[in-house]
Amino acid sequence: MAKIGIIFGSSTGNTETAAEKLVDALGDAEAKNITEISEDDLNGYEFLVFGASTWGAGELQDDWEDNIDVLDDADLSGKKVALFGLGDQEGYPDTFVDAMGTIAEKLKAGGATIVGHWPTDGYTFDDSTATEGGKFLGLVLDEENQADESDERIAKWAEQLKKEFA
Ligand SMILES: Cc1cc2nc3c(=O)[nH]c(=O)nc-3n(C[C@H](O)[C@H](O)[C@H](O)COP(=O)(O)O)c2cc1C
Repeated sequence: MAKIGIIFGSSTGNTETAAEKLVDALGDAEAKNITEISEDDLNGYEFLVFGASTWGAGELQDDWEDNIDVLDDADLSGKKVALFGLGDQEGYPDTFVDAMGTIAEKLKAGGATIVGHWPTDGYTFDDSTATEGGKFLGLVLDEENQADESDERIAKWAEQLKKEFA
């Protein structure tokens, strides 16, 4: 089992692609769909990274919606976790990457420590539940409007995570 579990939910493949790129960038990591993960699986990883897109108006991606309760059953207390979110800042400026905020609430309730906060500079939006203290709770990718920036953002965030997971 890899040291880092990257758990994603993805409807059109964007979050899944980002998860796979993160596996390569982080090393000693594996990507798993939220549909195929149990609390025992989660407990087995030293570090966890959760990726989700936002759908509806600020809703969780469907597979996350159906399976988020696994976070209640896992032992997250004191565990270092990180988040990444996919969204569309031009199409949904009032609910930009809100799914990341919803998942973060669950993680915090379970006693996890969220690392990997990411600057909001370079994004244009009006509101998001995924910010805290002027930063995003994790990496934000926008394949609709800023696809050409994703690879660089992933590479930079992975280097940041390697330090924060140490
Ligand atoms: C019907 C619909 C609703 C969406 N709602 C939101 C939203 O509320 N907030 C947001 O940031 N992005 C929203 N998006 C954008 C998706 O999150 C974005 O396309 C994402 O890259 C999809 O990732 P996935 O293929 O991994 O599911 C929406 C897209 C669609 C088509």
